[in-house]
Amino acid sequence: MIQKYVYGMPFETEAVIVDVEIGNGNPSYGMVNLENGFSFTYRLAKEDVVYGLGEANRGINKRGGCYISDCTDNPHHTEDVRSLYAAHNFIIVAGTQNFGLFIDYPSRIIFDIGDTRADTLKITCEQADLYLYVIEGDTPYEIVKQFRKQIGRSYIPPKFAFGFGQSRWGYRTKEDYREVADGYRRNHIPMDMIYMDIDYMQDFKDFTLNEEHFSEFPEFVQEMKEQNIRLIPIIDAGVKIENGYPVYEEGIKNRYFCQQEDGKEFVAAVWPGYTHFPDVLNPEARQWFGDYYQLLTDQGIEGFWNDMNEPAIFYTPEGIKKVSEKMVEYLKNREEKPSTWEVRNELLGLANSQTDYESFYHQVGGQRIRHDKVHNLFGYNMTRAAGEAFDRIEPNKRFLIFSRSSYIGMHRYGGIWTGDNKSWWSHILLNLKMLPSLNMCGFLYVGADLGGFGADTTRDLLLRWLALGVFTPLMRNHSAIGTRAQECFRFEQVEDFRHVIQVRYRLLPYLYSEYMKAALEDDMYFKPLAFVYPKDTHAPLVEDQLMLGNEIMIAPVYIQNARGRYVYLPEEMKFVKFLPDGMIYEEILSAGHHYVDIELDEVPLFIRQGKCIPVAEIAEHVEALDTVHMTVIGYLGAEYLLYEDDGIHKDYDNPKNWRTVK
Ligand code: GLC
Repeated sequence: MIQKYVYGMPFETEAVIVDVEIGNGNPSYGMVNLENGFSFTYRLAKEDVVYGLGEANRGINKRGGCYISDCTDNPHHTEDVRSLYAAHNFIIVAGTQNFGLFIDYPSRIIFDIGDTRADTLKITCEQADLYLYVIEGDTPYEIVKQFRKQIGRSYIPPKFAFGFGQSRWGYRTKEDYREVADGYRRNHIPMDMIYMDIDYMQDFKDFTLNEEHFSEFPEFVQEMKEQNIRLIPIIDAGVKIENGYPVYEEGIKNRYFCQQEDGKEFVAAVWPGYTHFPDVLNPEARQWFGDYYQLLTDQGIEGFWNDMNEPAIFYTPEGIKKVSEKMVEYLKNREEKPSTWEVRNELLGLANSQTDYESFYHQVGGQRIRHDKVHNLFGYNMTRAAGEAFDRIEPNKRFLIFSRSSYIGMHRYGGIWTGDNKSWWSHILLNLKMLPSLNMCGFLYVGADLGGFGADTTRDLLLRWLALGVFTPLMRNHSAIGTRAQECFRFEQVEDFRHVIQVRYRLLPYLYSEYMKAALEDDMYFKPLAFVYPKDTHAPLVEDQLMLGNEIMIAPVYIQNARGRYVYLPEEMKFVKFLPDGMIYEEILSAGHHYVDIELDEVPLFIRQGKCIPVAEIAEHVEALDTVHMTVIGYLGAEYLLYEDDGIHKDYDNPKNWRTVK
């Protein structure tokens, strides 16, 4: 059962698309207080677990932390960070009472989940203008399924997007791309995509190509396609201010950019220098911006990643002016010993400043709305611009699109990657913990920068992270400019990388089927153990293993120099290891705790009792997969329901897509 409570004058985010009955009076759980903005308070029992929040820091169980939905470009995902790139305001309290809450509020909102007081959940925001959805169900899993029905079907990418992709900020020329393609193909490491970061553009201008390096672009796209490699360019939120640049000129002419209070276009510096933000909340401007993607799809491009769409701001002219004045003051007064900390903080404060977010506006439905009141909707609507455009360009074709910033509702238009992580072991675990939470909020096509974006990776870190990435729908190795090169073929004993990525392709018929089942049935692809074993009292405590689909459990290694790990089995399972020689090791393990050996070049998984999964032969790209001659591993006598379509079109409901394998 779902009830909707209306407070004040909410902004229509279009997160929920199925009508919900409006509840009378107060919600049956917790206490709502409207004296000072909005607050919801609930007393947590000792055993209660709190799930949700999608792309948020810390655990699968969110208790003991404070999280702020306030989309932020912050590349330092340390444990104390409260805001990441997304705002996914859905939580589930499970325990004494089970209920879910979705707070449809597009501005800054705080979820204090037993942080200030261990026994108190308190949600607060400044304006009492929101929809509160309260979802009841017998179990947290039931609650998720009900919520997912209200927010609509999750985005489904083309099948090639389930292949492995290589990315790096710093590829500049065709030769750089050819080197990567060749490195993978020569070493027979499977791959389907190479991502193009900002340097493919001319001066970081969206929908342009670098004139020196990318003449004859359609031919180059084709050259890569002949090797079964798709190029996936990045699109950034900020449009460079430059006379003669059509996107800029049209945006100015039609008033499609966000404006300040005085009606002048708001100016913010990002990669291209000074830019304007397209007002993607305004449907007309959104359509205009979306139509530009066709410039690239017309040249053979079939996928994109949308970036910097919190929207990130490095600085504004006003900010620079204020800081320069302050600098002059510092130097004047403290010639002898300037406070470098103060200077540093001033400079750091220039980026993503609240003052800037309060100084520009969107035009929605004839109304002007200040950006900070709808801040968390920018990435959502930028990606919606692309998604809606793809439906106009070729309605029956699936395009790859994923975004850095997001809000619930965007899950219908695209996937997400979880932003600028680091080459840290702790970030493998953070990656794992986010996965089921993202699924709860509708985001199924998700993944992290494997190997770590910032800082220098190591061979073992990359291998272990890839062994988790084997299971994430988006499997992409991406790293920042200036860090150690981390394409798989750059390391010694390339065969280990070849083997780990081959396992992804061998499992792809299974992973794709489970993705499609989750998407078509508004279900989860990754689940916490407790969702599958609700009676198991230990399951809610497990934070480093996940259930995937209906058949398997994963338990990756995330500690350096470990040669295995402890694993908890809620029931008897078959422990499976893909060994470097292509063989598959299988061993039945009883329910309970076990230590299992897992070498750096092995990929483990666990098959649930009585179930089986299909395994294909090795393929170097998705199109080469042979799904006719597959083997089935797991429990004898079990059957598996396979989903297979052409991976290109939207013919999801065709009964021919289903077949049983055993
Ligand atoms: C941002 C993105 C990152 C990208 C970089 C350059 O930091 O998150 O993935 O490589 O910008 O475009």
